Amino acid sequence: MTEKMLQQYKVWDAPTRIFHWVNFTTVILLLLVGTLMYFKKDLGITGLEAKIAIKEIHVWIGYVFAINLSIRLLWGFIGNQYARWSNILPGKSFPAVLSSYIASIKSGEPQQFLGHNPLGRLAVTLMMLILITLAITGLVRAGTDIYYPPLGASFAAHIAAEGVDPASIKPYDKTGTNPEAYQELKAFKGPFGDIHIYVAYTLLAIILLHIIAVVRAEITEGGGLVSAMFSGRKTLAKKPEDLN
Ligand code: HEM
Repeated sequence: MTEKMLQQYKVWDAPTRIFHWVNFTTVILLLLVGTLMYFKKDLGITGLEAKIAIKEIHVWIGYVFAINLSIRLLWGFIGNQYARWSNILPGKSFPAVLSSYIASIKSGEPQQFLGHNPLGRLAVTLMMLILITLAITGLVRAGTDIYYPPLGASFAAHIAAEGVDPASIKPYDKTGTNPEAYQELKAFKGPFGDIHIYVAYTLLAIILLHIIAVVRAEITEGGGLVSAMFSGRKTLAKKPEDLN
């Protein structure tokens, strides 16, 4: 019987782990509240106040999500080597690294990595692009729909009729607005809402795929991927490909 030497490595730093779990929690809450918004009529929620309240809750969770995401984007330039964009985003050598990893899976002897494996790097890149798109389109809609920061005050100023204080304009109420500017804002916000919803449901599909892929890698390759996101440490039997 061949005995394998297990070795433990410190991989994920605390900011990366905190980001992951705050992101995980806020994304699930945003999907739940977003779905509630989408099906509000079917669920018997018809009052304007309730509609605005649900949107406000979604936006407040959205702020936590967007701030957490911004910190992670910055951390990718200052964190440890595994948290850095230079080790995550696919670069010049990526096609060779990916095909070597896929070949190793097919051979039944999958290569092991301390950071993300090459398929994980693709998934993380795609998820980051999706999260950034959701944050931008969400923040625009928070401004156009309920005049919330960071853009709400400018949108309210744009649609306010002459002599009307923009701060007095209420969501879903045309009182005090300039009809032409109101229509302009309505036309402007449409595409942001469409992109937001399509991308949100694409994210849902990718999250499910990501979970399936992590479970597959955990079963076939080991390494304690899931517990590593809590403890920061991975335990590997083979020499990792990305050990410096
Ligand atoms: C992972 C992040 C997010 C997910 C999965 C998500 C999901 C959703 C979903 C499913 C809807 C329902 C769309 C509809 O009713 O037509 C929605 C709407 C909305 N979201 Fe998000 N959202 C996210 C982030 C954000 C952020 C960061 C903000 C702002 C801070 C935001 C603000 C809004 C607003 C204002 C709406 C209403 C748009 C409308 O009525 O069409 N969202 N979101």
